[in-house]
Amino acid sequence: MSAFIADWLNLLLRWAHLIVGIGWIGKSFYFIALDLALRKREKMPEGVMGTAWEVHGGGFYHVEKYSVAPKELPDDLIWYTWEAYLTWVTGFGLMMVQYYFKATSYLIDANILVMTPGEAIVLSVASLVGGWFVYDGLCKSVAGHNMPLLAACVFALILIAAYGYTHIYSGRGALSHVGAFIGTIMAVNVFGVIIPNQKKIAAALMAGRDPDPSLGAKGKQRLVHNNYLTLPVLVMMVSNHYPMLTNHPHAWLLVALILVIGVMVRNFFNRHEAGDPLSKIVCTLLSAAAGLAVAIVITAPAPIETDGTKISDQVVLGLTHKHCVACYSATPTNELFAEPPNGVQLETIEELHRWSQQILAMAVYSDAMPLGNETGMTKEVR
Ligand code: HEM
Repeated sequence: MSAFIADWLNLLLRWAHLIVGIGWIGKSFYFIALDLALRKREKMPEGVMGTAWEVHGGGFYHVEKYSVAPKELPDDLIWYTWEAYLTWVTGFGLMMVQYYFKATSYLIDANILVMTPGEAIVLSVASLVGGWFVYDGLCKSVAGHNMPLLAACVFALILIAAYGYTHIYSGRGALSHVGAFIGTIMAVNVFGVIIPNQKKIAAALMAGRDPDPSLGAKGKQRLVHNNYLTLPVLVMMVSNHYPMLTNHPHAWLLVALILVIGVMVRNFFNRHEAGDPLSKIVCTLLSAAAGLAVAIVITAPAPIETDGTKISDQVVLGLTHKHCVACYSATPTNELFAEPPNGVQLETIEELHRWSQQILAMAVYSDAMPLGNETGMTKEVR
């Protein structure tokens, strides 16, 4: 596939992934806030457990939540399902275009593990599928009846996956896979548990039967997980812009910190929306801030070791021509690129000065570039 077509496919899938991802996560945030905003009022129709008033876009909305299904449900009852499914479909499409089709550059790093593209792709698919089954097994096991224990098990599962990915794939490939691993769990939670259970409950209520209470409990358990995993997934997904995260030598430990920070921030929002006083919930933000401080400290660049020898411009240009210019030139010779990536050219000393901070971040403080270290850049050269 030509670089031009691959770029368009990548852009369109990324765009679609963002649109449906925003749709999914936005609705999930909205319904959690709505649920927490419901209040009992003096006059409420039969079967209604609480109502909320909202104003948006110049209109007033009055929402009623039924504890059991109302006597009649309209034919045009809205089921919010496709956003979650399409987030997975577009995410997996992007995984193929960004990582599977260009595995040697973006997924495999020979300094981490030598493998063929076929092996890298099989491992990727197997880990995403396997991750769901292990997670689902944990939820159904005895740990599933103990919320803190289950949370600790899911945390450990994600960390094991992160440790594995960071010891198999390139930095960027690894953290994107952690995001896809969690995102797959979240999407299958909707597809395989939450929606089917909700349909069974609705069918039982409509038939005048008492629904099996375990159906609601199981759906709720997965909803809570999705709620808490959303913020960490977002960081993993955008981590590809930040080599201080993706190419950190202990990136899997950063995943642990991102999980703690994301969960604490989410917990703050949930409790704030439920009306808890700030004094009671400020500890969640303080914990998140402590996690963030640790992350900032451990990602701070180490001072560059140098013996003071001055390197001539000619030597520098020789090195950048060997390691950088195949992509970062007006007419890249690397077949992955039809244009210089992000418009960056590194062919002259002036251009190297202009992009010096990015060069430091990508190739000196981290080994994010060259891609997959295909040119074999050594520590000394960096
Ligand atoms: C909760 C669900 C998800 C959300 C909110 C989400 C969000 C995002 C966002 C915002 C990006 C844009 C990153 C960027 O261009 O900087 C992204 C990229 C991406 N997502 Fe997702 N995503 C989700 C689930 C998934 C799943 C399930 C997969 C795969 C099975 C996936 C695969 C990818 C890939 C491969 C990229 C490109 C990463 C890169 O360029 O390095 N996502 N996602």
